[in-house]
Amino acid sequence: MRRAYESPVWTMPMLTPIPFRPDEAHRRLYRSALGQYATGVTVITTMTDDGPTGMTVNSFTSVSLDPPLVLWCLADNSQRYDVFSGARTYAINVLHSGQYELAMVFAKDGGHFTEANSFAGALGAPVLRDALAVFECRLEQTVAVGDHSVIVGRVDQLSYREGDPLIFQGGHFGTFSG
Ligand SMILES: Cc1cc2nc3c(=O)[nH]c(=O)nc-3n(C[C@H](O)[C@H](O)[C@H](O)COP(=O)(O)O)c2cc1C
Repeated sequence: MRRAYESPVWTMPMLTPIPFRPDEAHRRLYRSALGQYATGVTVITTMTDDGPTGMTVNSFTSVSLDPPLVLWCLADNSQRYDVFSGARTYAINVLHSGQYELAMVFAKDGGHFTEANSFAGALGAPVLRDALAVFECRLEQTVAVGDHSVIVGRVDQLSYREGDPLIFQGGHFGTFSG
């Protein structure tokens, strides 16, 4: 992935917008178009009665600076829906470019914590030691919208360091290269 476009935008092919219809083909197009939006990758972590758990998420975004509010979107059909929609506290761990494997394992299931890769944060949610940034949150609000729930959290603790992010775009993982 490049830091800047190498060719001027006017050489790009013209796009032809099509009306969205609620069928399978259009749903695929919709997903593909959404996938063009490059995002970072996070693992949302929380503590449960059965131990720590986590899930790979790229829908994280900031909402408000004052008060400090952030959101992510949780799919209604996730097998981990009850755990994460009910979590009173959780941490949002922003992954660095070397954490592709971690993103993949936390996409499959939630239990990939070791003392080497994590510790209990101030709110009880696990913090991934190597993350680029961590936002430890208290649940502020959950809003059911369409087939997802928007989970809004109030940031209680934060930390960050400089480094290259893990990026997700068009179904591929990558990072910046100079
Ligand atoms: C890069 C990436 C980003 C993802 N982002 C989200 C997300 O924002 N919200 C969500 O509910 N699931 C997201 N997922 C899917 C979950 O990580 C998980 O794979 C999915 O919920 C299916 O597993 P489950 O039913 O056990 O939860 C993402 C997966 C990947 C690989």
